[in-house]
Amino acid sequence: MKKELYIMGVETSCDETAVAIIKNGRHIVSNIVASQIESHKRFGGVVPEIASRHHVEQVTIVFEEAMREAGISYADLDAIAVTAGPGLVGALLIGVNAAKAIAFAHEIPLVGVHHIAGHIYANRFVKEMEFPLLALVVSGGHTELIFMKEHGYFEVIGETRDDAAGEAYDKVARTLNLPYPGGPHIDKLAHEGTPTIKLPRAWLEQGSYDFSFSGLKSAVINTLHNAEQRGEKINPKDLAASFQESVIDVLVGKTVAAAKEYNVKQVLLAGGVAANKGLRAALTEAFSELSEVELIIPPLSLCTDNAAMIAAAGTVLFEKGQRANFALNANPGLDITIHN
Ligand code: KG4
Ligand code: ZN
Repeated sequence: MKKELYIMGVETSCDETAVAIIKNGRHIVSNIVASQIESHKRFGGVVPEIASRHHVEQVTIVFEEAMREAGISYADLDAIAVTAGPGLVGALLIGVNAAKAIAFAHEIPLVGVHHIAGHIYANRFVKEMEFPLLALVVSGGHTELIFMKEHGYFEVIGETRDDAAGEAYDKVARTLNLPYPGGPHIDKLAHEGTPTIKLPRAWLEQGSYDFSFSGLKSAVINTLHNAEQRGEKINPKDLAASFQESVIDVLVGKTVAAAKEYNVKQVLLAGGVAANKGLRAALTEAFSELSEVELIIPPLSLCTDNAAMIAAAGTVLFEKGQRANFALNANPGLDITIHN
């Protein structure tokens, strides 16, 4: 009888080529991430064509490294879980086809995973999930509040109507001439400044869990331009602090309200912006006053794109009997509720 369950994860949806192997759903055996950030920096954002080329160059090396580090053979793998979407189609295709080739050659079951499901399941390396739970997903492409009543069930109760939180960070950073990706730079500046500049908070209609960050982004840009026209100088640290406070106020406010309304046992933070120090601190403080809800925050290394999280989500889908066939395709607009 086989005791251990080994799942390989493959992630190539944006600018990281990543392969990981995890054991029994919650233990990382190997986790290799080849980042392309340096190649995209000079363009101020991810260039899809460059991303695809890098994935092609890196993918075989990353597979080999993940296998070598894990010290297992392909025969030991129970399944391969791969990000099928959303993301850049050319980038996704590299991972999907590489995973299909390995699955075919070694006769290993294949599971398609939603990228955001992966971000949420990064939390399972910290603590076992308890349902019902609420996930606050904040990444470069997504800002969502997702309700989960069980493994593999995702209900989007709120989402952004325009820019994602990470996108707003990156755009504001670009206005301040900070390098890509801008999120970590704004985070750092914000801690050196004081939130003295008045900026809007988009609460939207009463009771809505949707978000909107484009008004805030425009307000930051206008503040800078107006000051420039008047020949005044705005302290970038104070502007970063004011912007960050506005983003965090809304994210935390809506998450606390939804956690109460949906009576959840846990709140999980997920996505690249989960690395934000200010957001981590504000959520920790808010939930320390709500003792019936347990807040889980992944370690920094598991907040940004990686394949261990894809393997973690893939494990529960595999255990639920989900299988992809060789017709599995990259789907840049994949809907998370298809996992239900
Ligand atoms: O989840 P992720 O790695 O990729 C997507 O799936 O989009 O998220 C990347 C995003 C970028 O917008 C980046 O600026 C943002 O996460 N980010 C941060 C921080 N670290 C990364 N945003 C704010 N504060 C941070 N410390
Ligand atoms: Zn991501």
